[in-house]
Amino acid sequence: MALLEIKTAGDPVLKEISKPVEKIDKRLRKLLDDMAETMYASEGIGIAAPQIGKSIRVCVVDVDRKDRNNRYDLINPVITFREGSVVDNEGCLSCPDLFGDVERAEKIHVEYTSRFGKKKTLEAEGLLARCIQHEIDHLDGQLFIDIAKNITKGRPEKK
Ligand code: CO
Repeated sequence: MALLEIKTAGDPVLKEISKPVEKIDKRLRKLLDDMAETMYASEGIGIAAPQIGKSIRVCVVDVDRKDRNNRYDLINPVITFREGSVVDNEGCLSCPDLFGDVERAEKIHVEYTSRFGKKKTLEAEGLLARCIQHEIDHLDGQLFIDIAKNITKGRPEKK
């Protein structure tokens, strides 16, 4: 596996609308593994392909990084159901040291294709739902700092 360079805010690739993946093969699985390795090395809980310079609709999330057993590789993810609304603080590997409050749906259903080409549906809530919404925003060229409120440099103090 290899660590990839993370693109930061200001890089035009982060503003592009990513293209759907058409071919799921070994090369794509290697990319997903490299994205995951890069995410874990940076202590992130999610990473989307535009963040490593590829404008394709894939992201990797693992909100419970500890044993690395709860990783989702989402290919062509689409949110098909949203419910509720929660505001919470977020950061992003592409916006080093910036944090801000973002309103997101509390529960979502996501349809996606697995790394072996299977159609799947994931029902998510809480941090996992938040993270997936954040990563899908990346695929649509949106950074959290475009929609966040109360942006701070450094993690805000807990209230
Ligand atoms: Co991000």
